[in-house]
Amino acid sequence: MQPEPRNTMAEPLIPDAIATAAIASHSYTDDKIVYPAFAWLRDNMPMGKACLPGYDPFWVVSRHADVMAISRDAKNFINGDHNLILQTQESDAFIRKSNKGKVRSMNSLAYMDHPEHAKYRGITSNWFMAGRVAKLEARMRQIAEESVADLLNRDSECDFVKDFILYYPLRVIMDILGVPPADEPRMLKLTQQLFGGDDPDERRHEIPLGPDAAARAWRATLEDFYDYFRELSRERRSQPRDDLISLIANKRFDDEYIDEDRELDYYIAIATAGHDTTSAASAGGMLGLLRFPEQFQILKNDLSIMPKFIDESIRWSTPIKHFMRSAAFDVEVGGQMIRQNDRLLLSYPSANRDPRVFERPDDFSIMRTPNNHLAFGNGPHMCIGQHLAKLDMRILFDALLPRLRSVELAGEPRLLQSNFISGLKSLPIRFKAQ
Ligand code: HEM
Repeated sequence: MQPEPRNTMAEPLIPDAIATAAIASHSYTDDKIVYPAFAWLRDNMPMGKACLPGYDPFWVVSRHADVMAISRDAKNFINGDHNLILQTQESDAFIRKSNKGKVRSMNSLAYMDHPEHAKYRGITSNWFMAGRVAKLEARMRQIAEESVADLLNRDSECDFVKDFILYYPLRVIMDILGVPPADEPRMLKLTQQLFGGDDPDERRHEIPLGPDAAARAWRATLEDFYDYFRELSRERRSQPRDDLISLIANKRFDDEYIDEDRELDYYIAIATAGHDTTSAASAGGMLGLLRFPEQFQILKNDLSIMPKFIDESIRWSTPIKHFMRSAAFDVEVGGQMIRQNDRLLLSYPSANRDPRVFERPDDFSIMRTPNNHLAFGNGPHMCIGQHLAKLDMRILFDALLPRLRSVELAGEPRLLQSNFISGLKSLPIRFKAQ
């Protein structure tokens, strides 16, 4: 049989220096490296191919319109068969070796395609609807007020991230999930190890540095999470409570509990994505107010614009830096032919600074309307926790802002070294309470 004739549309190759600036973990420690690289890509090669040593080739999708189109088209762009996160060839090889030849490193929602995805997302989707989430407001307000009182007791200087913002969304999501407060530090540590695998402060030091270190650390951290959640699941099957672990642990399809991989990975996805992202967006919002102090005054003068401030904080910080998709068929997107099995990196921070959609995109501007950012993705995988995240943040800043007379930077902010989920790991501030 003759092979199918191949379309010969040239493949634009991204210069290595630009590709490295846009995707390497260490680039994300400095906004002055990643954002100019994204701007170059959007203007010169919006659908460009990166062929970096140590990585399988992949497309970098940098414009808002293309990230949106691919996210919505789950027929042509799928998740399940390839690694959803960009990792080195050595890391992918390590995953295949320990995973019966497959590079799907987890069985959580993000890694599923239709119809499996709809079936499993349906277990919790009602639970995460805006109306249902609003019922948690009183409890969240209590947690927020306790956290703010702790902060204001700190003698006018603190690290907004390390001393404060890491703990409030953590407490909220663990409460919802059903993890006892005493185990929160353990959950925080494991989340930091999962997402901070490349960061010198967060990584698991017992894993030797090397080209497959990220995958080894990921695996080791998942195993720790499994040990923990297996126990809790057993408990909630025998004594269910009003929490998400009880809901998922007792879910049955055709009279069978869901299999253990999918069950435990469900908890891990919620336990990790559910707070790290929200605290990164909240810290990003605080930095926005510090870098653009007139915005602090605008917000102080009219707290009713809080929802706009929250959206702008999420856009400006964009805590999830990428997810990958792979092409299920040959398909054209953004004027570029993509081949079946090609992988594409959706750059959310680049989409969210695209001047074709956002006026003065680098400015932190809380009155921005509309604010159609893609920080929660789009299409069938769009963040299931988005209403919770926004409510979480609104309640926190509702409690904090009226108590802050002024706030300023008291040292250099530091960003986590990660090209997947990252944000500020340190934000020293000096404040006056009122
Ligand atoms: C500001 C905070 C957050 C941001 C920026 C964020 C961002 C994202 C993004 C970009 C995706 C992938 C969307 C796509 O592929 O199109 C996602 C999916 C997901 N998020 Fe969030 N997220 C946040 C908060 C949360 C919270 C609070 C939860 C708690 C439950 C959560 C749980 C999930 C889950 C389970 C998925 C997978 C959904 C699926 O594949 O169907 N996220 N999130």
